[in-house]
Amino acid sequence: SDVRLWGARFADGPAEALAKLSASVHFDWRLAPYDIAGSRAHARVLNKAGLLTEDELSRMIAGLDQLEADVADGSFTGTIADEDVHTALERGLLERLGPDLGGKLRAGRSRNDQIATLFRMYLRDHARIIGGLIAELQGALVGLAEAHPDVAMPGRTHLQHAQPVLFAHHVLAHAQSLSRDAERLRQWDERTAVSPYGSGALAGSSLGLDPEAVAADLGFERGSVGNSIDGTASRDFVAEFAFITAMIGVNLSRIAEEVIIWNTKEFSFVTLHDAFSTGSSIMPQKKNPDIAELARGKSGRLIGNLTGLMATLKALPLAYNRDLQEDKEPVFDSCDQLEVLLPAFTGMMATLTVNRERMEELAPAGFSLATDIAEWLVKQGVPFRVAHEVAGACVKECEQHGIELDELTDEQFAKISEHLTPEVRTVLDVAGALASRSGRGGTAPSAVAVQLAEVKTDLATQ
Ligand code: ARG
Repeated sequence: SDVRLWGARFADGPAEALAKLSASVHFDWRLAPYDIAGSRAHARVLNKAGLLTEDELSRMIAGLDQLEADVADGSFTGTIADEDVHTALERGLLERLGPDLGGKLRAGRSRNDQIATLFRMYLRDHARIIGGLIAELQGALVGLAEAHPDVAMPGRTHLQHAQPVLFAHHVLAHAQSLSRDAERLRQWDERTAVSPYGSGALAGSSLGLDPEAVAADLGFERGSVGNSIDGTASRDFVAEFAFITAMIGVNLSRIAEEVIIWNTKEFSFVTLHDAFSTGSSIMPQKKNPDIAELARGKSGRLIGNLTGLMATLKALPLAYNRDLQEDKEPVFDSCDQLEVLLPAFTGMMATLTVNRERMEELAPAGFSLATDIAEWLVKQGVPFRVAHEVAGACVKECEQHGIELDELTDEQFAKISEHLTPEVRTVLDVAGALASRSGRGGTAPSAVAVQLAEVKTDLATQ
Protein backbone atom coordinates (compact mmCIF):
# COMPACT_ATOMS: atom_id res chain seq x y z
CA SER A 1 0.00 0.00 0.00
CA ASP A 2 1.03 3.62 -0.50
CA VAL A 3 3.01 4.86 2.47
CA ARG A 4 2.61 8.50 1.50
CA LEU A 5 0.47 10.66 3.76
CA TRP A 6 -0.91 12.63 0.83
CA GLY A 7 -1.58 10.27 -2.10
CA ALA A 8 -5.33 10.67 -2.65
CA ARG A 9 -5.44 13.64 -5.00
CA PHE A 10 -2.54 12.39 -7.11
CA ALA A 11 -2.99 10.16 -10.14
CA ASP A 12 0.67 9.16 -10.16
CA GLY A 13 3.18 8.34 -7.47
CA PRO A 14 6.25 10.58 -7.14
CA ALA A 15 8.97 10.34 -9.71
CA GLU A 16 12.06 8.51 -8.54
CA ALA A 17 14.07 11.73 -8.81
CA LEU A 18 11.58 13.60 -6.64
CA ALA A 19 11.48 10.84 -4.05
CA LYS A 20 15.26 10.96 -3.79
CA LEU A 21 15.31 14.74 -3.46
CA SER A 22 12.44 14.84 -1.00
CA ALA A 23 13.65 12.16 1.38
CA SER A 24 14.86 13.23 4.79
CA VAL A 25 14.46 9.95 6.61
CA HIS A 26 18.20 9.23 6.42
CA PHE A 27 18.88 12.22 8.64
CA ASP A 28 15.64 12.84 10.53
CA TRP A 29 15.40 9.25 11.74
CA ARG A 30 17.23 10.34 14.87
CA LEU A 31 14.04 12.18 15.81
CA ALA A 32 12.04 8.92 15.94
CA PRO A 33 11.91 8.62 19.76
CA TYR A 34 10.70 12.22 19.98
CA ASP A 35 8.10 11.65 17.28
CA ILE A 36 6.74 8.68 19.23
CA ALA A 37 6.64 10.71 22.46
CA GLY A 38 4.74 13.39 20.54
CA SER A 39 2.34 10.77 19.21
CA ARG A 40 1.58 9.52 22.72
CA ALA A 41 0.83 13.04 23.91
CA HIS A 42 -1.29 13.67 20.83
CA ALA A 43 -3.26 10.44 21.39
CA ARG A 44 -4.07 11.63 24.91
CA VAL A 45 -5.50 14.96 23.75
CA LEU A 46 -7.48 13.20 21.02
CA ASN A 47 -8.96 11.08 23.80
CA LYS A 48 -9.65 14.16 25.94
CA ALA A 49 -11.43 15.73 22.97
CA GLY A 50 -13.61 12.65 22.57
CA LEU A 51 -11.95 11.53 19.35
CA LEU A 52 -10.43 8.33 20.75
CA THR A 53 -12.24 6.07 23.23
CA GLU A 54 -10.46 4.85 26.37
CA ASP A 55 -10.04 1.46 24.74
CA GLU A 56 -8.66 3.00 21.55
CA LEU A 57 -6.29 5.14 23.57
CA SER A 58 -4.86 2.24 25.49
CA ARG A 59 -4.41 0.18 22.31
CA MET A 60 -2.86 3.21 20.62
CA ILE A 61 -0.39 3.70 23.50
CA ALA A 62 0.45 0.00 23.48
CA GLY A 63 1.04 0.17 19.72
CA LEU A 64 3.30 3.20 20.14
CA ASP A 65 5.20 1.47 22.96
CA GLN A 66 5.74 -1.54 20.71
CA LEU A 67 6.84 0.69 17.85
CA GLU A 68 9.24 2.49 20.17
CA ALA A 69 10.79 -0.81 21.26
CA ASP A 70 11.11 -1.92 17.63
CA VAL A 71 12.77 1.35 16.69
CA ALA A 72 15.13 1.06 19.65
CA ASP A 73 16.28 -2.46 18.80
CA GLY A 74 16.50 -1.69 15.10
CA SER A 75 13.79 -4.15 14.01
CA PHE A 76 11.80 -1.25 12.55
CA THR A 77 13.52 1.41 10.47
CA GLY A 78 12.41 4.04 8.00
CA THR A 79 13.25 3.69 4.32
CA ILE A 80 13.71 6.21 1.53
CA ALA A 81 10.22 5.30 0.30
CA ASP A 82 8.86 6.63 3.59
CA GLU A 83 10.15 10.13 2.79
CA ASP A 84 10.51 11.27 6.39
CA VAL A 85 10.50 10.02 9.98
CA HIS A 86 6.86 10.99 10.52
CA THR A 87 5.66 8.98 7.52
CA ALA A 88 7.81 6.01 8.43
CA LEU A 89 6.45 5.89 11.97
CA GLU A 90 2.88 6.20 10.75
CA ARG A 91 3.53 3.20 8.53
CA GLY A 92 4.93 1.36 11.53
CA LEU A 93 1.86 2.19 13.57
CA LEU A 94 -0.52 1.13 10.81
CA GLU A 95 1.37 -2.16 10.49
CA ARG A 96 0.96 -2.78 14.21
CA LEU A 97 -2.58 -1.52 14.79
CA GLY A 98 -4.30 -1.84 11.42
CA PRO A 99 -5.70 1.05 9.39
CA ASP A 100 -8.85 1.66 11.45
CA LEU A 101 -7.15 2.54 14.71
CA GLY A 102 -3.71 3.42 13.32
CA GLY A 103 -5.31 5.86 10.87
CA LYS A 104 -6.88 7.93 13.66
CA LEU A 105 -3.72 9.43 15.11
CA ARG A 106 -3.08 11.90 12.34
CA ALA A 107 -6.21 13.93 13.08
CA GLY A 108 -5.48 17.50 14.14
CA ARG A 109 -1.76 17.47 13.56
CA SER A 110 0.56 18.09 10.65
CA ARG A 111 4.14 17.22 9.97
CA ASN A 112 4.71 20.97 10.19
CA ASP A 113 3.84 21.25 13.88
CA GLN A 114 5.34 17.83 14.56
CA ILE A 115 8.75 18.66 13.15
CA ALA A 116 8.87 22.06 14.84
CA THR A 117 8.17 20.36 18.17
CA LEU A 118 10.45 17.36 17.81
CA PHE A 119 13.33 19.49 16.64
CA ARG A 120 13.04 21.60 19.80
CA MET A 121 12.96 18.48 21.96
CA TYR A 122 16.03 17.04 20.27
CA LEU A 123 18.04 20.23 20.51
CA ARG A 124 17.03 20.79 24.12
CA ASP A 125 18.40 17.35 25.03
CA HIS A 126 21.61 18.06 23.17
CA ALA A 127 21.96 21.49 24.73
CA ARG A 128 22.09 19.64 28.03
CA ILE A 129 24.60 17.09 26.74
CA ILE A 130 26.87 19.79 25.32
CA GLY A 131 26.47 21.84 28.50
CA GLY A 132 27.66 18.83 30.50
CA LEU A 133 30.67 18.36 28.22
CA ILE A 134 31.57 22.02 28.58
CA ALA A 135 31.40 21.68 32.35
CA GLU A 136 33.91 18.83 32.09
CA LEU A 137 36.27 20.98 30.05
CA GLN A 138 35.90 23.79 32.57
CA GLY A 139 36.73 21.23 35.23
CA ALA A 140 39.94 20.39 33.38
CA LEU A 141 40.86 24.10 33.14
CA VAL A 142 40.11 24.56 36.84
CA GLY A 143 42.34 21.56 37.51
CA LEU A 144 45.19 23.13 35.52
CA ALA A 145 44.79 26.42 37.39
CA GLU A 146 44.67 24.68 40.74
CA ALA A 147 47.73 22.58 40.01
CA HIS A 148 49.76 25.67 39.00
CA PRO A 149 48.63 28.46 41.31
CA ASP A 150 51.93 30.38 41.17
CA VAL A 151 53.42 29.80 37.73
CA ALA A 152 54.18 33.04 35.87
CA MET A 153 54.11 33.30 32.11
CA PRO A 154 54.52 36.07 29.55
CA GLY A 155 51.12 37.67 29.06
CA ARG A 156 50.75 38.80 25.48
CA THR A 157 48.87 41.33 23.39
CA HIS A 158 49.38 41.32 19.62
CA LEU A 159 51.21 38.05 20.42
CA GLN A 160 54.05 40.25 21.77
CA HIS A 161 55.29 40.13 25.34
CA ALA A 162 53.05 42.55 27.24
CA GLN A 163 53.06 41.97 30.99
CA PRO A 164 53.72 38.89 33.09
CA VAL A 165 50.58 37.08 34.21
CA LEU A 166 49.86 33.96 36.16
CA PHE A 167 49.35 30.89 34.01
CA ALA A 168 46.27 30.17 36.16
CA HIS A 169 44.90 33.64 35.33
CA HIS A 170 45.26 32.93 31.63
CA VAL A 171 43.68 29.49 31.84
CA LEU A 172 40.76 30.81 33.87
CA ALA A 173 40.11 33.45 31.21
CA HIS A 174 39.22 30.60 28.89
CA ALA A 175 37.05 29.08 31.61
CA GLN A 176 35.13 32.36 31.79
CA SER A 177 34.20 32.33 28.11
CA LEU A 178 33.08 28.73 28.44
CA SER A 179 30.94 29.74 31.44
CA ARG A 180 29.16 32.23 29.22
CA ASP A 181 28.66 29.56 26.57
CA ALA A 182 27.10 27.29 29.17
CA GLU A 183 24.91 30.16 30.33
CA ARG A 184 23.89 30.85 26.73
CA LEU A 185 22.81 27.24 26.39
CA ARG A 186 20.71 27.44 29.56
CA GLN A 187 19.07 30.69 28.50
CA TRP A 188 18.40 29.29 25.03
CA ASP A 189 16.80 26.25 26.59
CA GLU A 190 14.51 28.42 28.65
CA ARG A 191 13.43 30.36 25.55
CA THR A 192 12.90 27.15 23.60
CA ALA A 193 10.71 25.47 26.21
CA VAL A 194 7.55 26.28 24.20
CA SER A 195 5.69 23.64 22.19
CA PRO A 196 4.35 24.21 18.65
CA TYR A 197 2.28 20.96 18.80
CA GLY A 198 -1.35 21.75 18.01
CA SER A 199 -0.47 24.44 15.48
CA GLY A 200 -1.41 22.00 12.74
CA ALA A 201 -0.16 22.93 9.29
CA LEU A 202 -0.24 26.62 10.26
CA ALA A 203 -3.74 27.65 11.40
CA GLY A 204 -4.36 25.58 14.51
CA SER A 205 -6.89 22.77 14.87
CA SER A 206 -10.68 22.69 14.64
CA LEU A 207 -10.86 19.52 16.72
CA GLY A 208 -10.85 21.05 20.20
CA LEU A 209 -7.40 19.67 21.09
CA ASP A 210 -5.47 21.03 24.05
CA PRO A 211 -1.98 22.25 23.00
CA GLU A 212 -1.13 23.15 26.61
CA ALA A 213 -1.71 19.55 27.70
CA VAL A 214 0.59 18.30 24.92
CA ALA A 215 3.21 20.86 25.92
CA ALA A 216 3.10 19.72 29.55
CA ASP A 217 3.23 16.08 28.49
CA LEU A 218 6.36 16.71 26.41
CA GLY A 219 8.19 18.69 29.09
CA PHE A 220 7.79 22.17 27.62
CA GLU A 221 7.86 24.20 30.81
CA ARG A 222 6.55 27.36 29.17
CA GLY A 223 3.49 25.81 27.58
CA SER A 224 2.44 25.97 23.95
CA VAL A 225 3.13 28.64 21.35
CA GLY A 226 0.94 31.73 21.33
CA ASN A 227 0.69 31.83 17.53
CA SER A 228 0.36 28.74 15.34
CA ILE A 229 1.85 30.44 12.25
CA ASP A 230 4.93 31.42 14.24
CA GLY A 231 4.98 27.97 15.81
CA THR A 232 5.31 26.20 12.48
CA ALA A 233 7.36 28.75 10.55
CA SER A 234 9.93 30.12 12.99
CA ARG A 235 13.38 28.62 13.25
CA ASP A 236 15.22 31.31 15.18
CA PHE A 237 15.58 28.72 17.93
CA VAL A 238 17.65 26.67 15.47
CA ALA A 239 19.72 29.63 14.34
CA GLU A 240 20.39 30.64 17.93
CA PHE A 241 21.44 27.11 18.79
CA ALA A 242 23.72 27.12 15.75
CA PHE A 243 25.23 30.41 16.93
CA ILE A 244 25.88 29.09 20.42
CA THR A 245 27.54 25.94 19.09
CA ALA A 246 29.57 28.03 16.62
CA MET A 247 30.63 30.32 19.47
CA ILE A 248 31.70 27.29 21.49
CA GLY A 249 33.72 26.17 18.47
CA VAL A 250 35.32 29.58 18.16
CA ASN A 251 36.15 29.67 21.87
CA LEU A 252 37.69 26.20 21.61
CA SER A 253 39.67 27.29 18.57
CA ARG A 254 41.24 30.10 20.57
CA ILE A 255 42.39 27.69 23.26
CA ALA A 256 43.47 25.29 20.52
CA GLU A 257 45.61 27.85 18.74
CA GLU A 258 47.44 28.62 21.96
CA VAL A 259 48.01 24.97 22.72
CA ILE A 260 49.45 24.52 19.23
CA ILE A 261 51.80 27.47 19.73
CA TRP A 262 52.73 26.51 23.29
CA ASN A 263 53.53 23.01 22.09
CA THR A 264 56.11 24.16 19.50
CA LYS A 265 59.82 23.63 20.07
CA GLU A 266 60.28 27.41 20.13
CA PHE A 267 57.75 28.00 22.91
CA SER A 268 58.00 24.67 24.75
CA PHE A 269 55.46 25.87 27.32
CA VAL A 270 53.53 22.61 27.39
CA THR A 271 53.95 18.98 26.49
CA LEU A 272 50.95 17.00 25.33
CA HIS A 273 50.26 13.56 26.70
CA ASP A 274 51.03 10.74 24.28
CA ALA A 275 47.45 9.50 24.50
CA PHE A 276 46.19 12.85 23.27
CA SER A 277 48.64 13.52 20.46
CA THR A 278 49.45 11.78 17.21
CA GLY A 279 52.53 10.73 15.28
CA SER A 280 53.63 11.11 11.68
CA SER A 281 53.64 8.28 9.16
CA ILE A 282 57.04 9.35 7.84
CA MET A 283 58.79 11.47 10.49
CA PRO A 284 59.42 9.23 13.51
CA GLN A 285 60.15 12.12 15.87
CA LYS A 286 56.83 13.94 15.33
CA LYS A 287 54.24 14.37 18.04
CA ASN A 288 51.42 16.46 16.71
CA PRO A 289 48.65 18.42 18.47
CA ASP A 290 45.92 16.99 16.23
CA ILE A 291 43.10 17.45 18.74
CA ALA A 292 43.77 21.16 18.91
CA GLU A 293 44.06 21.36 15.13
CA LEU A 294 40.79 19.51 14.64
CA ALA A 295 39.15 21.89 17.10
CA ARG A 296 40.49 24.81 15.10
CA GLY A 297 39.26 23.24 11.87
CA LYS A 298 35.87 22.23 13.17
CA SER A 299 35.19 25.74 14.36
CA GLY A 300 35.09 26.73 10.68
CA ARG A 301 32.59 23.99 10.03
CA LEU A 302 30.42 25.13 12.94
CA ILE A 303 30.42 28.69 11.62
CA GLY A 304 29.46 27.30 8.21
CA ASN A 305 26.50 25.50 9.75
CA LEU A 306 25.30 28.77 11.26
CA THR A 307 25.73 30.85 8.11
CA GLY A 308 24.13 28.20 5.90
CA LEU A 309 21.11 28.11 8.15
CA MET A 310 20.79 31.89 8.23
CA ALA A 311 20.89 31.93 4.44
CA THR A 312 18.14 29.32 4.30
CA LEU A 313 15.92 31.39 6.59
CA LYS A 314 16.51 34.72 4.92
CA ALA A 315 13.41 36.14 3.18
CA LEU A 316 11.45 32.93 3.68
CA PRO A 317 7.75 33.85 3.66
CA LEU A 318 5.37 32.55 6.32
CA ALA A 319 4.34 29.89 7.07
CA TYR A 320 6.01 26.51 6.50
CA ASN A 321 8.06 26.09 3.32
CA ARG A 322 9.88 22.96 2.34
CA ASP A 323 13.14 24.94 2.47
CA LEU A 324 12.86 24.37 6.20
CA GLN A 325 13.77 20.73 5.76
CA GLU A 326 17.29 22.06 5.22
CA ASP A 327 17.39 23.30 8.82
CA LYS A 328 18.22 20.00 10.46
CA GLU A 329 21.45 18.63 9.01
CA PRO A 330 23.56 21.68 9.89
CA VAL A 331 22.66 21.66 13.57
CA PHE A 332 22.64 17.89 13.84
CA ASP A 333 26.17 18.15 12.52
CA SER A 334 27.04 20.87 15.03
CA CYS A 335 25.85 18.62 17.87
CA ASP A 336 27.71 15.60 16.50
CA GLN A 337 30.93 17.53 16.03
CA LEU A 338 30.95 19.06 19.49
CA GLU A 339 29.99 15.80 21.11
CA VAL A 340 33.06 14.05 19.67
CA LEU A 341 35.36 17.05 19.95
CA LEU A 342 34.74 18.14 23.53
CA PRO A 343 35.69 14.87 25.29
CA ALA A 344 38.96 14.68 23.31
CA PHE A 345 39.69 18.34 23.94
CA THR A 346 39.03 17.94 27.65
CA GLY A 347 41.35 14.95 27.74
CA MET A 348 44.08 16.94 26.04
CA MET A 349 43.77 19.84 28.48
CA ALA A 350 43.51 17.60 31.54
CA THR A 351 46.70 15.71 30.69
CA LEU A 352 49.07 18.33 29.30
CA THR A 353 52.23 19.06 31.27
CA VAL A 354 53.25 22.62 32.02
CA ASN A 355 56.91 23.57 31.60
CA ARG A 356 57.17 25.93 34.52
CA GLU A 357 60.87 26.76 34.09
CA ARG A 358 60.41 27.79 30.48
CA MET A 359 57.37 29.96 31.18
CA GLU A 360 59.01 31.68 34.12
CA GLU A 361 62.25 32.24 32.24
CA LEU A 362 60.34 34.10 29.53
CA ALA A 363 57.88 35.92 31.82
CA PRO A 364 60.09 39.00 32.35
CA ALA A 365 61.67 38.90 28.88
CA GLY A 366 60.88 41.41 26.16
CA PHE A 367 60.85 44.28 28.68
CA SER A 368 57.48 43.11 29.99
CA LEU A 369 58.10 44.97 33.26
CA ALA A 370 58.32 48.40 31.59
CA THR A 371 54.75 49.19 32.66
CA ASP A 372 55.78 48.44 36.23
CA ILE A 373 58.51 51.09 36.05
CA ALA A 374 55.96 53.61 34.76
CA GLU A 375 53.41 52.75 37.45
CA TRP A 376 56.11 52.87 40.15
CA LEU A 377 56.99 56.40 38.96
CA VAL A 378 53.30 57.38 39.13
CA LYS A 379 53.27 56.27 42.74
CA GLN A 380 56.26 58.66 43.31
CA GLY A 381 54.07 61.49 42.00
CA VAL A 382 55.38 61.57 38.41
CA PRO A 383 52.63 62.25 35.82
CA PHE A 384 51.92 59.13 33.77
CA ARG A 385 52.78 60.88 30.50
CA VAL A 386 56.30 61.52 31.80
CA ALA A 387 56.53 58.13 33.48
CA HIS A 388 55.66 56.40 30.20
CA GLU A 389 58.48 58.27 28.45
CA VAL A 390 61.02 57.50 31.18
CA ALA A 391 60.15 53.78 31.10
CA GLY A 392 60.37 53.87 27.32
CA ALA A 393 63.85 55.39 27.59
CA CYS A 394 64.84 52.50 29.88
CA VAL A 395 63.74 50.04 27.19
CA LYS A 396 65.72 51.94 24.57
CA GLU A 397 68.84 51.89 26.75
CA CYS A 398 68.43 48.13 27.27
CA GLU A 399 68.00 47.49 23.57
CA GLN A 400 71.16 49.43 22.81
CA HIS A 401 73.17 47.30 25.23
CA GLY A 402 71.38 44.00 24.66
CA ILE A 403 70.28 43.66 28.28
CA GLU A 404 67.03 43.31 30.24
CA LEU A 405 65.53 46.03 32.47
CA ASP A 406 66.76 44.55 35.75
CA GLU A 407 70.30 44.57 34.36
CA LEU A 408 70.41 48.40 34.14
CA THR A 409 72.84 49.87 36.66
CA ASP A 410 71.89 52.51 39.23
CA GLU A 411 73.95 54.96 37.18
CA GLN A 412 72.10 54.15 33.98
CA PHE A 413 68.75 54.60 35.77
CA ALA A 414 69.86 57.94 37.25
CA LYS A 415 71.08 59.16 33.90
CA ILE A 416 67.68 58.42 32.30
CA SER A 417 65.71 60.26 35.01
CA GLU A 418 66.29 61.78 38.43
CA HIS A 419 63.12 59.97 39.59
CA LEU A 420 64.67 56.55 38.93
CA THR A 421 66.22 55.86 42.34
CA PRO A 422 67.57 52.38 43.08
CA GLU A 423 64.25 51.57 44.81
CA VAL A 424 62.75 51.07 41.33
CA ARG A 425 64.32 47.61 41.44
CA THR A 426 61.59 46.46 43.82
CA VAL A 427 59.15 46.27 40.90
CA LEU A 428 61.61 44.74 38.45
CA ASP A 429 60.79 41.26 39.51
CA VAL A 430 57.97 39.11 38.22
CA ALA A 431 56.58 38.02 41.57
CA GLY A 432 56.34 41.65 42.70
CA ALA A 433 54.70 42.71 39.43
CA LEU A 434 52.12 39.93 39.74
CA ALA A 435 51.38 40.54 43.41
CA SER A 436 50.86 44.25 42.83
CA ARG A 437 47.87 43.63 40.51
CA SER A 438 45.63 42.54 43.32
CA GLY A 439 42.43 44.35 42.36
CA ARG A 440 39.38 42.39 41.27
CA GLY A 441 40.07 40.39 38.12
CA GLY A 442 43.82 41.06 38.25
CA THR A 443 46.74 38.67 37.99
CA ALA A 444 47.92 38.69 41.65
CA PRO A 445 47.79 35.22 43.21
CA SER A 446 45.19 36.50 45.69
CA ALA A 447 42.97 37.87 42.89
CA VAL A 448 43.34 34.73 40.79
CA ALA A 449 42.34 32.63 43.82
CA VAL A 450 39.06 34.58 43.87
CA GLN A 451 38.55 33.91 40.15
CA LEU A 452 39.20 30.22 40.70
CA ALA A 453 36.65 30.10 43.50
CA GLU A 454 34.08 31.92 41.35
CA VAL A 455 34.48 29.54 38.42
CA LYS A 456 34.18 26.59 40.80
CA THR A 457 30.99 28.03 42.32
CA ASP A 458 29.60 28.64 38.85
CA LEU A 459 30.40 25.04 37.90
CA ALA A 460 28.84 23.65 41.05
CA THR A 461 25.59 25.56 40.52
CA GLN A 462 25.15 24.79 36.80
N1 ARG B 1 10.40 16.66 6.56
C1 ARG B 1 9.80 17.93 6.76
C2 ARG B 1 10.80 18.88 7.39
O1 ARG B 1 11.80 18.43 7.86
C3 ARG B 1 8.64 17.79 7.69
C4 ARG B 1 7.51 18.66 7.35
C5 ARG B 1 7.03 18.35 6.01
N2 ARG B 1 5.83 19.05 5.73
C6 ARG B 1 5.35 19.10 4.51
N3 ARG B 1 4.27 19.72 4.34
N4 ARG B 1 5.97 18.54 3.50
O2 ARG B 1 10.65 20.08 7.39
